[in-house]
Amino acid sequence: MDELLRRIRPAVRGRSPYLVGLPEATTVKLNQNESPYDLPPEVKEEVLRAFARISFNRYPDEFAEPLTKTFAAWAGCDPDGVMVGNGSNDLAGLLGLALIERGTSVALPRPMFSLYAKVALLHDGDLFEVPCREDFRFDTDALVKAVALRRPALVVLATPNNPTGLAMTLDEIAAVADASDGFVAVDEAYLEFSEEGSALRLMDEYPNLILLRTFSKACGLAGLRLGFLIARPDVLRELRKARMPFMIDPLASAAARILLSSWPDVIAERARRIRADCLAITSALAAMEGVETVPSQTNFVLFRTPLDADRLKARFLAEGILVRSMSGYPELQGFLRVNAGTEIENKAFMTALEHALSA
Ligand SMILES: Cc1ncc(COP(=O)(O)O)c(C=O)c1O
Repeated sequence: MDELLRRIRPAVRGRSPYLVGLPEATTVKLNQNESPYDLPPEVKEEVLRAFARISFNRYPDEFAEPLTKTFAAWAGCDPDGVMVGNGSNDLAGLLGLALIERGTSVALPRPMFSLYAKVALLHDGDLFEVPCREDFRFDTDALVKAVALRRPALVVLATPNNPTGLAMTLDEIAAVADASDGFVAVDEAYLEFSEEGSALRLMDEYPNLILLRTFSKACGLAGLRLGFLIARPDVLRELRKARMPFMIDPLASAAARILLSSWPDVIAERARRIRADCLAITSALAAMEGVETVPSQTNFVLFRTPLDADRLKARFLAEGILVRSMSGYPELQGFLRVNAGTEIENKAFMTALEHALSA
C-alpha cells in the first residue's frame, strides 16, 4: 500500500484536508460566515417548480451560459468575462491549475483565507507571504515592494478579508495591480457587506485583475455551491481551457437565476440586515470589559477576550453555540470569529459570552 500511496504527488500528500466539521449538538451555528436566512418560502416554491421542468437525464450546457448572462447583468460586467464555478473555492482551484506549476512564484498577504496557500502548495508553487501591519491590515507598501521585486505570477487579495474582516481601499488594490506583471486575484466574497465597492471598476485600467465572487454569503446559497470569476474576456477564454465541462449543477443554476432575476431585493435587503446585526454585535462586544474587536466590513467579527480562546470556544459548544477559533493563524492567537446569525442566535451568543466573562 505504501508503494501505491507514494504515487500520489508529494505536494498533495503533504497537505491536510480542509475540514470544518459540524458537531452534532449545535443549535446556533455562527462559525462559517453563512447567511442565517434560507430563501423565503415563495422563492423556494418558484425554485422547486423550476426543478420539476429540468430533465435530470440530460447534461446541462457546458459552462452554464444562461446563468453567466443573468449574473453579468446583475453584477454589471461583460458576460464574455464571466465563468461560473461550483463555489468560488472551485474557481480558486482553477486558478491554481491554470497559473501555478513547480516553482511558480505566488504572493499572499497574511493573515488571509487559508485556501489560497493550499492551492499554491498543491501545485508546487513558490509561495511567499507578506506579514500584516500591527492592526492586521494588509501591509500594501510591503506587498507592492515584494511584488515588484519577486514578480509573482499570481497575487491573491481577499478583501474584505477573512478572518480579519478588514477591507483594502480600491487605491490599495490598484497599487498592487500596478506593481504586478502577473495576475492579481481579488476575492470579493464579502463585497455585499462592505463600503469599499468592487474592484470591477479597476478592470479597464488593469487587465491583470481577476475577481472572485460567491453566492455563499450575502446571497445565502452556500448549500447550492455557486461562485463566479470575472476577468477580461481574452483572459477568460484562456482560463476556460483548464475548466472541466458540466461542473455546474442545473438545479443550483436555476435557483440562482430565479433569485437574481426575480428577487434581487431579497439579497440587498438581507445583506443590509445582516450587516446591521454584525455592527450591533461588534459594538456590544467592544463595550464589554477586556474585549477587543477588529473593525469588520463583513458579516462576521474577530474578537479576543481575557479568557483562553479554545476553552471559551469549548464553553460555547457546550451550550450548542459554534464559533471559530483563529488559533491556527500565528498572528491571531487568542482570537475567535463569530458571524451574525438570526436575532435569537445573536442573543444566545451574547448571553453565553456574558456568562463566561462574569464566571
Ligand atoms: C474569503 C473567502 N472566499 C471564499 C470563500 C468560500 O466561498 P465558496 O463557498 O463560494 O466556495 C470563503 C468562505 O468562507 C471566504 O471566506
